[in-house]
Parts: sequence; structure tokens; C-alpha cells
Amino acid sequence: MNAPLLEIKRLSKAFGRVIAASNIDLTIDPGVLTSIIGPNGAGKSTLINMLSGSLPVDSGRILFQGADITHLPIHHRVRMGLCRSFQVVNIFPDLTVFDNIQIPVLAVHKRARRLFRPVAREAGVREEVSQVLDRVGLAAEAQTVASALSHGDQRLLEVGIALAVRPRLLFLDEPTAGMNPVERVRVLENIRGLSEEGKTTFVIVEHDMDIVFSLSDRVVVLHHGVIIGDGTTEDIQKSARVREVYLGEEVMT
Ligand SMILES: Nc1ncnc2c1ncn2[C@@H]1O[C@H](COP(=O)(O)OP(=O)(O)OP(=O)(O)O)[C@@H](O)[C@H]1O
Ligand SMILES: [Mg+2]
Repeated sequence: MNAPLLEIKRLSKAFGRVIAASNIDLTIDPGVLTSIIGPNGAGKSTLINMLSGSLPVDSGRILFQGADITHLPIHHRVRMGLCRSFQVVNIFPDLTVFDNIQIPVLAVHKRARRLFRPVAREAGVREEVSQVLDRVGLAAEAQTVASALSHGDQRLLEVGIALAVRPRLLFLDEPTAGMNPVERVRVLENIRGLSEEGKTTFVIVEHDMDIVFSLSDRVVVLHHGVIIGDGTTEDIQKSARVREVYLGEEVMT
């Protein structure tokens, strides 16, 4: 058995009287594609923000590969291999797709202080950027200015930017937000493929249930900052509590 990648212990966060996370216990294992679902305001983004370091926790602990990262700044977590993407698109719109990926690749190389000669290093960087573009299916768009990409391709570029820093664990907050169904399926199938490569473990927040159920190894359901379901897609589809929460939502809207 592999050690857990991430362990969350009794994590809590409140915004005034709103409890966004309430004593959350959760373990993420390597290679398991986990989806976090739940109604609007359930606390999904709050959880990801705390895990990635953009929001301080009120209480509880976060362990990454056994190390306590609860109070570490974002860049330390990134360096350890824990990254995230945002619910809104976050790319350099005026740069080409290639350059968007090259920036994080260069950052990693600089950090690794590789002792190659400059020419070899340049070739190495180019090769690595190309590999990332292949992995997210954007090789043909390498010289396109990012702002000219379709929305779906922009989201894939974001995934590429995150992958370029070679994360062990990557959180994607609504990677398909604002996409049409065709783009949605394409992006998520791409993520599924990347997950199966095994280099990066993905945790995604996604609203489309059909996609969640067809894609995920594991589904975690949040509601009012509490985990009300956690299991395989079959477990979650059978769960009376989960159905109650979702049906309740539908009846009300
Ligand atoms: N910075 C903040 N200040 C005050 N309240 C906040 C803040 N961030 C989140 N909240 C509140 O915390 C609760 C959880 O919000 P969160 O954004 O985590 O939900 P979510 O599950 O990501 O929802 P959505 O599906 O709409 O993205 C909500 O009631 C929200 O209004
Ligand atoms: Mg959210």
C-alpha cells in the first residue's frame, strides 16, 4: 500500500457565521482521481483554497506526504509538489501557448540548477514544453496567442501550466466552468488520461454529475462544509443522503 499523498485532519473554516468547513477529515491516495462535488456554497473552493495555501485554516492540520504544511505559504507547497488551478481562467493572454508553458518550465529548471551548457539547456526546455503541450493536446496551437484560444483550450492551457511544474498533487477547481458539453468532455477525458499516466494525482471540483460519475475513481460530497458522502461512483449514486441533498436542491430551484 502506498502512503497517503495528503491527509486532512479536522480542518475547519468559518466566515463570520457561515461554516465553510467543519472538522473535515480526508485522505487522498496517489493515483486516485477524486472529484469533490456539492451544491453551490458547499465549501468546495474553500477546501481547495486551504489545501493550496491561499486561505488560512481556522483549525486542523494538513499533511502532505507526511509533512505538516498547514501553515506553509503557497510557493513552499508548490515546491513540494502541491498545486492548484482556479475557478476562473488564469493564463498570460498576450503570450503564445508555448511561452505560457515555458515560463513555469524555466522556473523549475532554474530551481533545479541544472549544470547543462546554455544551448543544451535551451533544447531541454523546448523539449519539455513540447511534452507538456502534447500531454494537454495543444501541440498544434503552440504559436497561437493564448487569448485567441477557445475557452476549452484556455482551460487546457491552464492545466498545462500547472503540469509544467511537475506537481504530485493537482487541484482543479471547476476546470470545465463556462464550457460547452463537447469541450467539457474533451477536457475531462484529457484529465482522465493524464491521471492514468500516474505522474500527477488529480482532485477536481466539477458540477456535471454525468461527467463526475463517468470519470472519477472516487467521489467526495460536501454539503455545508461537511463530508456527507465519500466512495466510488456506485456508492455515491446509491447514497440516500446524497440524493436527498441533490434532490432537495432541485426541488428548490
Ligand atoms: N472570502 C469569503 N468571505 C466570506 N464568505 C465566504 C468567502 N469565501 C466563501 N465564503 C462562503 O463560504 C461558503 C462556501 O463557499 P465556497 O466558495 O467554498 O463554496 P463552493 O462549494 O466552492 O461553491 P460554488 O459551487 O458556488 O463554487 C459559502 O457560503 C460562501 O458564501
Ligand atoms: Mg467554488
